[in-house]
Amino acid sequence: MRRNTTRRPHPPRARRRAALPLAALGGVLALLLGPAAQAGASAQAVAAAPDISVTAVKADLKALQDVATANGGNRAHGRPGYRASLDLIKGKLDAAGFTTSIQQFTSGGATGYNLIADWPGGDTGKVLLTGAHLDSVTAGPGINDNGSGSAAVLETALAVSRTGFHPAKHLRFAWWGAEELGMVGSKNYVSKLTTAQRATISGYLNFDMIGSPNPGYFVYDDDPAIEKTFKQYFTGLGVVTEPETEGDGRSDHAPFKNAGIPVGGLFSGADYIKTTKQAAQWGGTAGKAFDACYHRSCDTLTNINDTALDRHSDAVAYAVWNLAG
Ligand code: TRP
Ligand code: CA
Ligand code: ZN
Repeated sequence: MRRNTTRRPHPPRARRRAALPLAALGGVLALLLGPAAQAGASAQAVAAAPDISVTAVKADLKALQDVATANGGNRAHGRPGYRASLDLIKGKLDAAGFTTSIQQFTSGGATGYNLIADWPGGDTGKVLLTGAHLDSVTAGPGINDNGSGSAAVLETALAVSRTGFHPAKHLRFAWWGAEELGMVGSKNYVSKLTTAQRATISGYLNFDMIGSPNPGYFVYDDDPAIEKTFKQYFTGLGVVTEPETEGDGRSDHAPFKNAGIPVGGLFSGADYIKTTKQAAQWGGTAGKAFDACYHRSCDTLTNINDTALDRHSDAVAYAVWNLAG
């Protein structure tokens, strides 16, 4: 029996305490109750997702910042910084054994690109798709919006490769172009799926802004099973969450939802103001925006709360491990 628990190099402290007794309990139950209970125990052990290194996520953000700096200060659709961002991420995925492809589209007279990465194996009739938009606005480098989601999804994909994760479902990862122009890349991807192909996507997980400097912890209020998985993760950390309802139409999950595909995701806040109650439960500053640099030139490497980035990145992996069957 394989236990993913043993592959976690650095479990976060709060979860390490819970994971050891659970694993021990699973072993005792398996001895007492035989093979049927062993299957149950290993289903529980799937919950032991890897700890995503926030240092690695931040190194990716630094690389994206460097790409912007070398390309006129942004990574926007139709600008050289976008394609350079895509090539950077594609190179890491190719080296890790993913099958990558680039989907082209046109928007505003410029060519745009989605990057798709398939992890070989699993039931291609049941695809778990995890994505983030990779483009920034033209005003700045887009490190929180959305280098943060892009890097967390990348590090989760690399963890799939590193740990040799081979779940029942087929894993696909996507980095969307031209989200800032109205979710153009993700809309293009969904529009090109046949009805039969749409039915193979069992869920889409979206990560857009997950390292906000004055962070909140918002879970998309959408597919109940996906929402429950994220809430479970944050409950385990002792972090309160609030439902994200306002975001329904505001990021790349929208086209999937509109096509009848179950969606979910996380969000640490943009230009809305943190309330006194929210500051009491999450820390940070009441009366200030979650991200005062939203869509501005100051959305740089310093526009990130490392704790929020770490927790949200680990939540990406937790959801992929637990929803992949
Ligand atoms: N990229 C989104 C945007 O520019 C960011 C965003 C704002 C968002 N509000 C949201 C993402 C709510 C998810 C949910 O509008
Ligand atoms: Ca981590
Ligand atoms: Zn944005």
